Amino acid sequence: MEDRHIAIFASGNGTNAENLIRYFGSRELGWKVSVVVCNRADAGVLDRARRLGVPSVVMPKASFADRDALAKVMDTYAVDAVVLAGFLLMIPLWLIARYPRSIINIHPSLLPKYGGRGMYGRHVHEAVVAAGERESGITVHLVNETVDGGAILFQAATALTAEDTPADVEAKIHQLEQRYFPQVVAATLAPSLVAMPASPQ
Ligand code: GAR
Repeated sequence: MEDRHIAIFASGNGTNAENLIRYFGSRELGWKVSVVVCNRADAGVLDRARRLGVPSVVMPKASFADRDALAKVMDTYAVDAVVLAGFLLMIPLWLIARYPRSIINIHPSLLPKYGGRGMYGRHVHEAVVAAGERESGITVHLVNETVDGGAILFQAATALTAEDTPADVEAKIHQLEQRYFPQVVAATLAPSLVAMPASPQ
């Protein structure tokens, strides 16, 4: 059977996008990453996609908000599921309706803590350190119409020390993301082939 197609939406460096592309590219799971959609022409994720031979489309905020333009990209690459890997624009409601339970996001905190508007990337880790938290983690969840509010698929926590800076927290979170995110996406899209990882204790 032909592979089904994942679109990755990303805005930044793209370490998670690269990890996902490599994971699905090296396994027979019936899913492949067919396109990377990025809202910033200077984002590192575009170089990564190019190196890995995955097409990319740059859609700045205005064209991403243009329903016809985005629908055309989804049609052109026959997209069946969307994975948000550090994507900072709001997902339009029509797209959420078009891909029920098939838009997956990763958030770099233990939701519902440190979620919502303005909570992304380093801002999250700064807030976690400012609050003196002794743990943080990652949440992989389905996307619905509330920011960071969809059903949680997986969480993993990591211990923090009083000395950890936001950059230290980011590095710990990055490790969790690299270790778990592709498997959680695979377990969600191909549950008969891949098991959801157990959350670390
Ligand atoms: C990741 O830490 C991801 O969890 C976070 O952005 C980073 C992207 O890194 N996402 C959010 O903050 C979403 N609210 P990457 O570009 O290297 O994959």
